[in-house]
Amino acid sequence: MTNSNRDSYAHGYGDSTSRVLGERSAAKNAAFLLPHLESGMKLIDIGSGQGNITIGLAEAVSPGEAVGIEIEPSQVEIARENASKAGASNLSFEVADAYELPFDDAHFNAAFIHTVLEHVSEPVRVLNEVRRVLAPDGVIGIRHGERGAFPVVVPPNATVEKFLHRNGNPLVDPGMDTRIGRKQQRMLREAGFDRVETRVAANPDPAGILLYAELIEQRIPNFVDQGIFSAEEFADDEYIDETVAEMRAWASDPDAQWINAPWWESLGWKRS
Ligand SMILES: C[S@@+](CC[C@H](N)C(=O)[O-])C[C@H]1O[C@@H](n2cnc3c(N)ncnc32)[C@H](O)[C@@H]1O
Repeated sequence: MTNSNRDSYAHGYGDSTSRVLGERSAAKNAAFLLPHLESGMKLIDIGSGQGNITIGLAEAVSPGEAVGIEIEPSQVEIARENASKAGASNLSFEVADAYELPFDDAHFNAAFIHTVLEHVSEPVRVLNEVRRVLAPDGVIGIRHGERGAFPVVVPPNATVEKFLHRNGNPLVDPGMDTRIGRKQQRMLREAGFDRVETRVAANPDPAGILLYAELIEQRIPNFVDQGIFSAEEFADDEYIDETVAEMRAWASDPDAQWINAPWWESLGWKRS
């Protein structure tokens, strides 16, 4: 299998990652693509993870065929279970590498990529491969957040702000391109897509801070063990406990607002 740079995926596939992915849905994360999907289309979701978004995309193209491809077999198993629980009969998941899709040219009418390209070393090569399997007039939607790009914290709180910047951010790992969103437009064009358009969404998400506090508890000690974050700054359990407690107290303000990442949403079409 071609090198996918998946080794940089230090988030891993543990509980905290599952929790983050479990919050996702097509309505929340693929709203910008949904208006371009039609019943009967064939759709592929690249790096589909646990399938939380793919299930809603499959509904949108039903009874057309939807396929999620994912490099990690354990995630494919979970996605299959999730699809079966959701009663999705037009949806399948396969273990495959985004660089070498096991499909003929022009097989699909729509493609989706969500929070995957920042983890691969050659994102434009992935986009080229996706374009190959799209039919003429096929649409692609891609969406990536930029961690630490412009943290907004209201009311101001130094502890919360510190963890939104990329150096202390439990959602950032060293191999990850935290500036992928702003490159989406150019990457799609380089891969030969046409009529490319991009918008940026940023939603204040006070409840998200609680999940974030959980991530800090679970991921920071692992990141310190792996040498990703410096031990001097983060190794102290008491420090992590205090930080998490302060975040939870901050989040209890009914008017607390934070923006963790601007989300870049791009659409492109394959010229006929
Ligand atoms: C952050 S998760 C996103 C999952 C899903 N798109 C979502 O938003 O819920 C990124 C996923 O991309 C997968 N991935 C990374 N490199 C890949 C590759 N070369 N081919 C297929 N999947 C890949 C990872 O295994 C991981 O499950």
